[in-house]
Amino acid sequence: MKFGYFDDVNKEYVINSPKTPYPWINYLGNQGFFSLISNTAGGYCFYKDARLRRITRYRYNNVPLDMGGRYFYINDNGNVWNPGWSPVKADLDSYECRHGMGYTIITGSKDSLKAEVTFFVPQNYDGEVQQVVLTNEGSSKKDFSIFSMAEWCLWDAQDDCTNFQRNFSTGRVEIEGSTIYHVTEYRDRRNHYAFYTVNDDIDGYDTDRDAFLGGIYNGWDAPATVKEGKPTNSFADGWSPIASHYKKVSLAPGESKTLIYILGYAENPQDKKFASEKPAGLLTRETWVLNKEKAYAMIDKYNTPEKVAAGLEELRNEWAKLLGIFNVNTPDDKVNRMVNIWNQYQCMVTFNLSRSASYFESGIGRGMGFRDSNQDILGFVHQIPDRARDRLIDLASTQLPDGGCYHQYQPLTKKGNSDIGGDFSDDPLWMILSVAAYIKETGDWTILDEMVPYDNDMSTAQTMLEHLKVSFYHIVNNLGPHGLPLAMRADWNDCINLSCWSDTPGESFQTYTNPKFKAEGGYSKIAESVMVAALFTYTGPSYVGILKHLGKDDEAAAAQAEIDKMKKNIMESAWDGDWFLRAYDSNGEKMGSKDCKEGQIFIEPQGFAIMSDIDKDAAKKTLASIDSRLNTEYGLVLNNPAFTKYYVQYGEISTYPGGYKENAGIFTHNNAWIICAAAYAGEGDQAFKYYSEIAPAFTEETSDLHKTEPYVYGQMIAGKDASNFGQGKNSWLTGTAAWNMVAISQYILGIMPDFDGLKIDPSIPHEWDGFKATRKFRGADYNITINNPDHVCKGVKKLTVDGKEIEGCVVPFESGKKVYDVVVTLG
Ligand code: GLC
Ligand code: GLC
Repeated sequence: MKFGYFDDVNKEYVINSPKTPYPWINYLGNQGFFSLISNTAGGYCFYKDARLRRITRYRYNNVPLDMGGRYFYINDNGNVWNPGWSPVKADLDSYECRHGMGYTIITGSKDSLKAEVTFFVPQNYDGEVQQVVLTNEGSSKKDFSIFSMAEWCLWDAQDDCTNFQRNFSTGRVEIEGSTIYHVTEYRDRRNHYAFYTVNDDIDGYDTDRDAFLGGIYNGWDAPATVKEGKPTNSFADGWSPIASHYKKVSLAPGESKTLIYILGYAENPQDKKFASEKPAGLLTRETWVLNKEKAYAMIDKYNTPEKVAAGLEELRNEWAKLLGIFNVNTPDDKVNRMVNIWNQYQCMVTFNLSRSASYFESGIGRGMGFRDSNQDILGFVHQIPDRARDRLIDLASTQLPDGGCYHQYQPLTKKGNSDIGGDFSDDPLWMILSVAAYIKETGDWTILDEMVPYDNDMSTAQTMLEHLKVSFYHIVNNLGPHGLPLAMRADWNDCINLSCWSDTPGESFQTYTNPKFKAEGGYSKIAESVMVAALFTYTGPSYVGILKHLGKDDEAAAAQAEIDKMKKNIMESAWDGDWFLRAYDSNGEKMGSKDCKEGQIFIEPQGFAIMSDIDKDAAKKTLASIDSRLNTEYGLVLNNPAFTKYYVQYGEISTYPGGYKENAGIFTHNNAWIICAAAYAGEGDQAFKYYSEIAPAFTEETSDLHKTEPYVYGQMIAGKDASNFGQGKNSWLTGTAAWNMVAISQYILGIMPDFDGLKIDPSIPHEWDGFKATRKFRGADYNITINNPDHVCKGVKKLTVDGKEIEGCVVPFESGKKVYDVVVTLG
């Protein structure tokens, strides 16, 4: 069952029922100001940091689930409704939500009155513009009223939802004309404020939530003011400040009226926080007056429909430009839709927000993840390489001198988060991969000369190249008894915690240090991760490639020797006969072996081991085992059989019921590694099969089962051991976005940036006749045609550039050359 359809021409997903199986959301903003908006206008806004600078309030896990957002209420002669159906939930005559690239348009109509609301965050602008177009579609005059509503968050989202003894007394607002200002804590240490305005005179307002609702017994679905068609003109004093505008509207038949609301955020320099005079008409309880210059300028920027149209046009052009960098035309519409539109769009969102704020991540728990953000760059770097470069430097700045890293940092402060700390064994390797991806994309080797601090202390700064070196050797210097990398607190799988041995509820599996291992530095020196070993042999060659390019042949040879040694150790100690082991636990026992009772095979090491060319025969056997042991119609499960009891020596993984999350869930992120590996091994059919099991556009038909948005990846789909098999969760912020972008574009379609040029080596379904692609790469345009006359999956028989045949499959980059016409014949 579907709840909408893809409009590929407009690059939108069009939802035609408000009752989606879960809130289906979109993200607005891609620089400083961000909004989450659901198909019924639920959600919230924040500036840069969803925890430390939350602008509007949102209650997670609410009942009903998605309550609280920016709502417009219409009272049409006693009939109260919202354009987005919720929260009043009055039956509408029509409803539509169009989620597009950085904007959402929600349209509802009832009794011949139509309300179309366009929400977007303009480029280089710290505010959400909401344009409401009201149209009388009937044959008689209509008199009605419209109420807006936004509930302020008192800035720190964590504090806001816990520290009520203080927060119920601090709320502060100012009102000037049609603009309501939120100034809680501005008098003292804060220098930022928010505002909500409308570009017309208003007929009243409310700024106190309980006054708006009519007491504490009403919800957003039944505000007394709206029902009565009359605001109370309340002026908040503590409690919960809100902003609601009330406006009477009268429309002749066929007539329309446009109102433009702006929900904005601004910061003042410390010495310009206050205005010197109190203007006439200003409503305040204070003796001081907010300096509103910035708000005035922001309001002026979008206070007419023409200006709004121009802002939208600018946003659309920006996205046309971004999506124009890489475009494919394959025989499969769903592939085209994912590659050309939605997968790339999701890559921007994950790049921006890491794993911080979604409908499954509260914005409070996490900032930017070190491993997450490095991987996000892999799918994003071609869009805006300069932003990727800045991010790489921010990330590397939270590294420690020995190559270890803080696992997360807060985007507002950019400081490593010491609550979580470090010692995640995979972290440093992702940075080698992402820096290499940046160089391969751009050819900008100067990033390696950039001076980058450790732990944000500039006095310790060394070159980025040196950061890569300490990353690489952090693995080499931390090996266990089999010469495999120590597993530490966790590797990519946060829930394999081989040193935790936790038996007390509430202990964090990632940060708790068992006294058993205290003397050893916090984690076992026996437990080893085969996943990190394989990631090392997969990533290491990028480091070696960089060194060779720089002419550092001795260092390159030394690094290569470590990679070779690791491969040998993997074959000697981590090959289980039909697949690679997962780990050695802190007792020195095998994890992920046919000899285990449960959890005999794990997905994570397999793909990287295959792509490291460790052993051809092993690779073949591994792919076959994956297909028989892990594959399902909805994707590959993480491990099999699922754990059915708690294994204290394994940690969090065995706390999940079978089929969910890391315990045999379909963790789509690591499905991508297998898709890459199958394609790499020439199994284009197998790669595509796995791709189409999880790619959202392919799950659209079963949206009722899948539950989450059919236009973006979720982190997990319930595995075959779960009763909800096939049900998606944790949509939007997942490494799957970047990795499946890599899988489809670089491994299946085979268009892969390399140090010396663009490599073209597809591995496609054999029935495809070929495909076409255009790619902007280092300032040049590549027009690529792939022909597949013999219907093979993989194998470049002939490659021509501008009609001339070349050897191999890397199109050599020539500086100054602007267009490359590339024709590849497979066979
Ligand atoms: C989540 C985390 C990611 C981790 C994965 C597996 O997606 O964000 O860092 O690698 O889970 O545990
Ligand atoms: C990752 C995992 C999740 C785990 C969490 C711990 O997000 O996906 O299962 O609970 O990390 O931080």
